[in-house]
Amino acid sequence: MPTNVKGRSLLTLKDFTTEEIGYLLDLAIDLKQKKRMGISGKSLQGKNIALIFEKPSTRTRCAFTVACIDEGAHPEYLGKNDIQLGHKESVEDTARVLGRMFDGIQFRGFSQETVEKLAKYSGVPVWNGLTDLYHPTQALADLMTVKEKFGTCQNIRFVYIGDGRNNVANSLMIIAAKMGMDFVVIAPKSLWPTEQLLETCREFALYSGGKIEITEDINQMQGAHVVYTDVWCSMGEEDHSVERIKLLKPYQVNKELMMKAQNPDIIFMHCLPAVKGNEVTEEVFESKYSVVFDQAENRMHTIKAVMMATLV
Ligand code: CP
Ligand code: NVA
Repeated sequence: MPTNVKGRSLLTLKDFTTEEIGYLLDLAIDLKQKKRMGISGKSLQGKNIALIFEKPSTRTRCAFTVACIDEGAHPEYLGKNDIQLGHKESVEDTARVLGRMFDGIQFRGFSQETVEKLAKYSGVPVWNGLTDLYHPTQALADLMTVKEKFGTCQNIRFVYIGDGRNNVANSLMIIAAKMGMDFVVIAPKSLWPTEQLLETCREFALYSGGKIEITEDINQMQGAHVVYTDVWCSMGEEDHSVERIKLLKPYQVNKELMMKAQNPDIIFMHCLPAVKGNEVTEEVFESKYSVVFDQAENRMHTIKAVMMATLV
């Protein structure tokens, strides 16, 4: 099936079809092989890319920067103190200004509304590099990693454990539902994803042959191919740290939890940065099951694929 995502923004992944996501993943895998062979193109030559960051970043910032430079584009970093976004100037006005100068815009920040407004008013593709609600470029890198390890995403039992309603969990549930995975959220009830998102994802899963389960029971690890966790306190939630540690301690990824899967080929995933000793033990993080640095590298290849596919 032909896919055309030219001119599109990547805000939540909800509006991307299974075929379009599959196309982006295959393109990223191809670009990774090419980079290994020392081949990089000039497919983004002459493009200027704005990189807006309200929150800090290592992987996302570096992935966008390197991907741009590999393909001949110019990345421009705009930190929270560098521009007026939402303070001295409305998001709508900044969007229209940037859209006159740049070919594409990456936004990392707090509000999903801001990234949606940037897309609506700038007239150029906007890529969500993380908001409080979603982290779609992370989810693409994660599925690329799953595909590399297992050859497919279909019917993979993917367990996400910990804070089940954060940006990473939300985006993983969306992409898993689109790609036919058996997605399990293990989390205390107070940290379950919203009913609305669950319903949306269950509908996606109907079409892809996927499944969404949600439970408080860590024994649902049984048969997992993947166990994934993220920090217990996301950026901006630091005040909740004491209560979260208490609530989530039973959901730590440690050796005992890994054993519950009864799968010698299980992989451990984390978007990073990790707080070792909280959501994952040092032992699991450093074990042979851990693919966290493959995920980090794949951020760059998938982000490159997204820019190449969506820039006009
Ligand atoms: N995983 C991720 O988004 O990392 P950064 O916060 O370093 O960009
Ligand atoms: N959930 C984390 C992801 C960091 C990449 C956060 O928002 O801080």
